[in-house]
Amino acid sequence: MLEAIRHAPLGDDVYCEDPTVRKLEEMAAAKMGKEAALLVTSGTQANLVSLMNNAKRGDLVFLEAEAHIYWYEGGGISGIAGLLPWRIRGHWGAIAPEDLEAAIRPKNIHFPEPALICIENTHNRYGGTIVTPKQMQAISEVAKRHGLKFYMDGARIFNAAVASKLDVKEFTKHVDNLMFCLSKSLSCPVGSIVVGDQQFIDKARKTRKILGGGMRQAGIIAAAGIVALETMIDRLAEDHLNARRLAEGLAKITGIQVDMTSVQTNMVRFDIGGLNLSDEAFLQKLRENGVLASTMSKGIVRMVTHRGIEKAHIEKTINAVDITAK
Ligand SMILES: Cc1ncc(COP(=O)(O)O)c(C=O)c1O
Repeated sequence: MLEAIRHAPLGDDVYCEDPTVRKLEEMAAAKMGKEAALLVTSGTQANLVSLMNNAKRGDLVFLEAEAHIYWYEGGGISGIAGLLPWRIRGHWGAIAPEDLEAAIRPKNIHFPEPALICIENTHNRYGGTIVTPKQMQAISEVAKRHGLKFYMDGARIFNAAVASKLDVKEFTKHVDNLMFCLSKSLSCPVGSIVVGDQQFIDKARKTRKILGGGMRQAGIIAAAGIVALETMIDRLAEDHLNARRLAEGLAKITGIQVDMTSVQTNMVRFDIGGLNLSDEAFLQKLRENGVLASTMSKGIVRMVTHRGIEKAHIEKTINAVDITAK
């Protein structure tokens, strides 16, 4: 990636004159089976740009109760986009179509205008779980019936595709537009991409500018993104295998519980409620034993596998948790 960055032909991307950015955006659109794409600075910016372009201020947005957009994006959905989030609890991150149907109220002057349904795939807070193409299709049918836009926060959509052994288009074909991250699993230092039809992306380009995300010689970011799309997707299977190894090892430790249903991609969530340790004490002891981790909620620790984490690191981690738990 560093070599690609060093040799990237550059231009001013605010004027759409950076050939490396153009190339990445074309590659991303083609991979996702959509008309156009836009490089943005982060997953959070991608979601914000997309929310602002799929709905107008005061509109209602349906999203899964544990959605990243709701939990971790600083309230931008309301504070900046001016939208009203309506949470629907899903099963392992997947909203049931009947629950969406039930949440959509008829037109009435008392009610905010429903505009958009957002899903997250894979679902972060459930531990990297997959919303299947079949589940997406069912949501899309409800959305179409009610004239709602359908958007996917696909920060880790390639993890879902690789783990399901499906082309990513099997997922993306059900949504109007989406974003995915070049950082995280795809190993880039920075960047996310919004994908959709041409009109949506033209509008997103302006929204990105308003939000301060218009970048000049952004080819230095895009060059790494091209390497990611060419070489970092198929290898995700390795991360998934390592996550499974980690989960199986952790599950054998007394006082630790792992729900294997959630171990579908590159994350492992485990419950330390059976140990006589506070979250802070557990994380501190684990750090002293050479492993960094964080909690997602009280008593629930999350670990993520990625490029650079090898089988030996998994064994080391299981040992470190074992010592920490004693
Ligand atoms: C599902 C999901 N969406 C969006 C984001 C935001 O991405 P970023 O950290 O690049 O802003 C994350 C980050 O972890 C995420 O997990």
